[in-house]
Amino acid sequence: MERIYIQEVATRDGFQIEEQFVPTEEKVKLLNKLSETGLDKIEVTSFVSPKAVPNLKDAEEVMNRINRHPDVAYTALIPNVKGAERALNCQADEVNLVASVSETHNLKNVRSTTDESFKNFKEISSFLNGTKMKINGTLATTFGCPFEGAVNENRVLTLINRYLDLGADGITLADTTGMATPKQVYRLCEYVRTRWPELPITLHFHNTRGMGLANVMEGIRAGINQYDASLGGLGGCPFAPGATGNICTEDLVHMLSFMDYEMNVDLDGLIETSKHLETLLNHEIPGQVMKAGKISDLYPVG
Ligand code: COA
Ligand code: ZN
Repeated sequence: MERIYIQEVATRDGFQIEEQFVPTEEKVKLLNKLSETGLDKIEVTSFVSPKAVPNLKDAEEVMNRINRHPDVAYTALIPNVKGAERALNCQADEVNLVASVSETHNLKNVRSTTDESFKNFKEISSFLNGTKMKINGTLATTFGCPFEGAVNENRVLTLINRYLDLGADGITLADTTGMATPKQVYRLCEYVRTRWPELPITLHFHNTRGMGLANVMEGIRAGINQYDASLGGLGGCPFAPGATGNICTEDLVHMLSFMDYEMNVDLDGLIETSKHLETLLNHEIPGQVMKAGKISDLYPVG
């Protein structure tokens, strides 16, 4: 059976947009629980400006305090060399760079043009040269931009090449505000897969318009086997209007495990951790399986 890799982003994509600061201690506890569930990768935090994203101002402390499971890759988002330095000091396994396919979204997100972002990434890759740190290149708004609308697919390919030129080990195609349709996902992913058959590609979907899991199925059909998802379906970009949660990790794992895909993940452990997350945040979270139970959970008659 086909192996699918599950990459958790709740403590980065999710916590960056929470109204309340999640205490460091609670972040560490949650990450330790997540590490025990068999996830393949965890995006722990962002080493960004604490003024831009105050919720993640404790990035060092979180990264340094978590128990690192040998089978989990620990990654962190960075915007510049300063972020790379911080991530390196904490011995992250990977840094995640983000540029938007849409110029307008890039300006909103990191206050620079896409060209400036890639110049900056060149400096980051030179800085990290000779270290063990891996580099993942994310393309935000790959499937549509909340400001510009449709994006040009050729531009997506050009920017993938720019990431590969600076030595990126993997690429993430991100649907920042849930604008991708399943048909579009299949077409673009098949194209990218054919052009770069061996390149590790992650798909990062937000479920803003209810198309998230359908998009995953079309991504799998196009040969992509790494998926970002967020516990309880938390998530959203603070610099994109109308952004809401990622596809939900336990809902994704639930669907795929009942379709006989192979994963390492303990679904019950995830559901339990998601319930813990809801209690911790003290507001309802979008996850569905954590509320409805698994399809194998039957009710007594009468
Ligand atoms: N870590 C910590 N602090 C940082 C930093 C980093 N990686 N990068 C910049 N800063 C600090 C600077 O030291 C400076 O602090 P000061 O005001 O106390 O002197 C301040 O942030 C501004 O830095 P500057 O280089 O002028 O950048 P900017 O104001 O143009 O901000 C970004 C650019 C990208 C660094 C900032 O907007 C950012 O971190 N954005 C977060 C993007 C994000 O996480 N998006 C969501 C995920 S897709
Ligand atoms: Zn996202």
